[in-house]
Amino acid sequence: MGSYPTCGYKSQVNSTDKVVVSIGGSILVPGDNDSEYISKLAEMLKGIRDEVQIAIVCGGGKTARYYAETGKALGGDTYQLDVLGIGATRLNAQLLSLALGDMPDEVPRSAEETARRSQPGKIVVMGGTFPGHTTDAVATMVAREMEADRVVNATSVDAVYTDDPRKNKDAKRIEKMTIAELGDIVYKEHDASKSSVFDPLGVKIAAANKIDIMMVDGRNLEELRKAILGQPFSGTTVNSH
Ligand code: UTP
Repeated sequence: MGSYPTCGYKSQVNSTDKVVVSIGGSILVPGDNDSEYISKLAEMLKGIRDEVQIAIVCGGGKTARYYAETGKALGGDTYQLDVLGIGATRLNAQLLSLALGDMPDEVPRSAEETARRSQPGKIVVMGGTFPGHTTDAVATMVAREMEADRVVNATSVDAVYTDDPRKNKDAKRIEKMTIAELGDIVYKEHDASKSSVFDPLGVKIAAANKIDIMMVDGRNLEELRKAILGQPFSGTTVNSH
């Protein structure tokens, strides 16, 4: 008899996977019993951190919008409003870090820094980087630096649709699409980029670096868990290969 360790082989198949999770601020801090959700999210992440190497990029949500609107009323320019937004994303990143049990005084400020700090078993959390894009784009930059297998976009919709399902009853849910097809959607809606399915810059980076994107309802922790682990999940898989 050979001494091949067959037992447990299956659970080790994805052990080297690297995954970047982009968590929208609207998921993290909608103002609806947020500590309960964040604490459950942290528990779920801690439960799988030895199976996949995880980096997380947090969005700004309501907090970012509040600062952007108030800053605008005070005469702030686009650059200044972006800087305020980045501040909100970093605050959210600290909040999630706190729930994970290790809140730094400052979260990583660049994709490179997160990639440098990332290691198996350790979850690195960051927010935005510099003005001009959103945290979805940052997630693809981190994935590029880490040579990650996929970006999981934990968002407030459960999938990509052919049209806005709130406005169009005939809108169809898309389970699989190519990165070019996602590009067709996001480049068209660029003017309304604030509510875009995914940051157009992020789509470009994902396409150029063959990074797959999984769109999943971030409030559904079981589906989010499956998407992070690379298992079949309910949502949209965007293939970049
Ligand atoms: P978000 O990533 O949360 O933007 O960053 P968003 O996609 O517009 O928000 P959601 O997902 O709908 O909640 C908040 C804001 O911070 C600035 C941008 O102005 C962005 O809209 N930001 C963020 C940057 O300028 N650079 C970054 O790297 C990140």
